[in-house]
Amino acid sequence: MIPTVEWKDGIVRMLDQTRLPLETVYNECRDYQTVAQGIKKLWVRGAPAIGVAAAMGLALGAKQIAANTFDEFWPKFEEICAYLAATRPTAVNLFWAIERMKKFVQANRERSIDEIRTLLVEETQRMLDEDIETNRRIGSYGSVFVADNDNIITHCNAGSIATAGYGTAEGVMRSAVEEGKQIHVYVDETRPVLQGARLTAWELMQENIPCTLITDNMAGYFMFHDMVDVAIVGADRIAKNGDVANKIGTYSLAVLCKEHGIPFYVAAPLSTIDFTMEAGSSIPIEERDPREVTHVFGKVQIAPDGVRVANPAFDVTPARYITAIITEVGAFHPKDIHRLADGKTDPEKLRLK
Ligand code: MRU
Repeated sequence: MIPTVEWKDGIVRMLDQTRLPLETVYNECRDYQTVAQGIKKLWVRGAPAIGVAAAMGLALGAKQIAANTFDEFWPKFEEICAYLAATRPTAVNLFWAIERMKKFVQANRERSIDEIRTLLVEETQRMLDEDIETNRRIGSYGSVFVADNDNIITHCNAGSIATAGYGTAEGVMRSAVEEGKQIHVYVDETRPVLQGARLTAWELMQENIPCTLITDNMAGYFMFHDMVDVAIVGADRIAKNGDVANKIGTYSLAVLCKEHGIPFYVAAPLSTIDFTMEAGSSIPIEERDPREVTHVFGKVQIAPDGVRVANPAFDVTPARYITAIITEVGAFHPKDIHRLADGKTDPEKLRLK
């Protein structure tokens, strides 16, 4: 596993995922503004990775604030939180991470500003370590749904580099392989930004997990010919009713799975569940630059000048298409997800096995 994002000698280093798989380059962020730019431009992407990167951006920002007292520090810190929160609207892990950092600062308000700055850096490392551990748990709860010799289909990239490490959907695949199962993965290329072709195919090949790259519109063909056993994808935000926002095209894949009787699993940490949101219809969907659709890699033009373009980066898959949501505390039927909100219900009682 190569680091997705890391804190090194007071600098945030981000793997520039826009350059993969052709080049492995780390961009150095010396201020929170560059971290925000990196999140917007998809140097770092994937819901959990965005959360950790934003937290590191806040730790950088705390160093940039000139303040001697907490009362001077706090409003400036809040401004930086708002700046980072404005980078991408859909992945709730971004807001979860910012909220966690805010609470952490408040809990330490009696300390000196210098101490708070140091503690914030330590907190980002904890977040990073916890995310990897969370993904390993997701993997072990999810691998029971993968049988030996299964053909899996996945969409976008929910791999190691979409998280602090190990991956969510790909973590489930990794776990299945670690348990000795033979698997093969159909990788949707994932238009328009090609996270499947550029990132998932690259990661699976590095792991020696057999995979076949297909264009998004081929998924139905392989299902119709009985060549897919199970679908596993990640998530950017899950509503209380079990609806799931994920990369555009996930909904189409889920509908195809239902038609063909193929189980459709979503693997995501609890931090991706938005317990304040009743239904998926309220999830904000990011609309991105039309150039992602009209050009490949922002360079080669493939559409006429001036054509009208729509570019919603995510869609919402209604809960009825989802077999189970796999989290670090177990796999659950989507309709049961809301019962995890208050922490009072024992997950053991709801777990699917
Ligand atoms: O636009 P992206 O690349 O950030 O979208 C990422 C996805 O849709 C992933 O499937 C999701 O964030 C889960 S990552 C573990």
